[in-house]
Amino acid sequence: MAASAREPYVVCQDVFKIYKVADLEVVALRGLDLVVDRGEVLAIVGASGSGKTSLLNILAGYDAPSAGKVTVGRHDLLRMSSKDVEDYRRKEVGFIWQQTSRNLFPYLTALENVALPMMLTSLPSKERRKRSEELIELVGLSHRAGHSPDKLSGGEQQRVAIAVALANHPPLLLADEPTGELDDATASEVLDLFGEVNRELDTTILIVTHDSDIAYKVGRVVLVRDGKTSAEIRRRVSMRRVAGRAERDEPLEEFTLVDGAGRVQIPGQYLDKLKIRERAKVGLDEGRVIISPEDV
Ligand SMILES: Nc1ncnc2c1ncn2[C@@H]1O[C@H](COP(=O)(O)OP(=O)(O)O)[C@@H](O)[C@H]1O
Ligand SMILES: [Mg+2]
Repeated sequence: MAASAREPYVVCQDVFKIYKVADLEVVALRGLDLVVDRGEVLAIVGASGSGKTSLLNILAGYDAPSAGKVTVGRHDLLRMSSKDVEDYRRKEVGFIWQQTSRNLFPYLTALENVALPMMLTSLPSKERRKRSEELIELVGLSHRAGHSPDKLSGGEQQRVAIAVALANHPPLLLADEPTGELDDATASEVLDLFGEVNRELDTTILIVTHDSDIAYKVGRVVLVRDGKTSAEIRRRVSMRRVAGRAERDEPLEEFTLVDGAGRVQIPGQYLDKLKIRERAKVGLDEGRVIISPEDV
């Protein structure tokens, strides 16, 4: 089997994000590593407060990392002028929020919402209209194009939000719990739409989700724990995919991630079971690293 060509597109290395609130410092990301290939669909999961939104905000150019390395294509997100950031936000990324209402302007129709991000570009108005219509068609809402958001269902609003996010052809789409407010059937349709976008436009897509079946719906899932990527679940046969229907035929493999300094996160239930607290014994044994309680 020919190895598929990997082309790293999003690269995060040892990323820290520290928020200062009055005199307190909140460490939201602590040495996070992540590589996403061009055209890949990646799901990000993790408990509330683990740093998922902080990561997405950094990749979206809304917020700067405190330390580390973050590149998206040729953009170095730690070394951008405010003009570069503006340009990056407009051209490189599209963003979809969980709150359907936050994605759209209430007084504009669906079509006008899609045309809005193009206003800041040099695209002639005729072209803008044509492209807006194409995008509304892509998300399957041509028949609803003239409606304002309050006339649309939650699922329809998220479809329009995806069209808005795609307005300026961004190669990267970031979605922070885009299906969080939707029922299962509608959420599944929205995931199908992400799949279509990925196939048709080759858009790289990162989706934060709480869907417990997500590993059966995308090619790769990364777990964020305490501000670090800690584990990864992927198909044995690598595939680029996102779809609403869970595909359970292909076996899943779970990996613990090892960072540049050789650190791994051992699952809490293993530590509990073996009563490993502050220290453990680490040894090498015929191709394996063995971690055992200190008194063994
Ligand atoms: N703007 C902010 N100011 C201060 N602390 C924040 C801010 N945003 C997030 N945090 C804190 O950073 C941590 C990670 O938050 P977040 O990235 O929103 O996690 P998640 O999206 O996984 O729930 C949490 O402890 C949260 O309270
Ligand atoms: Mg969040």
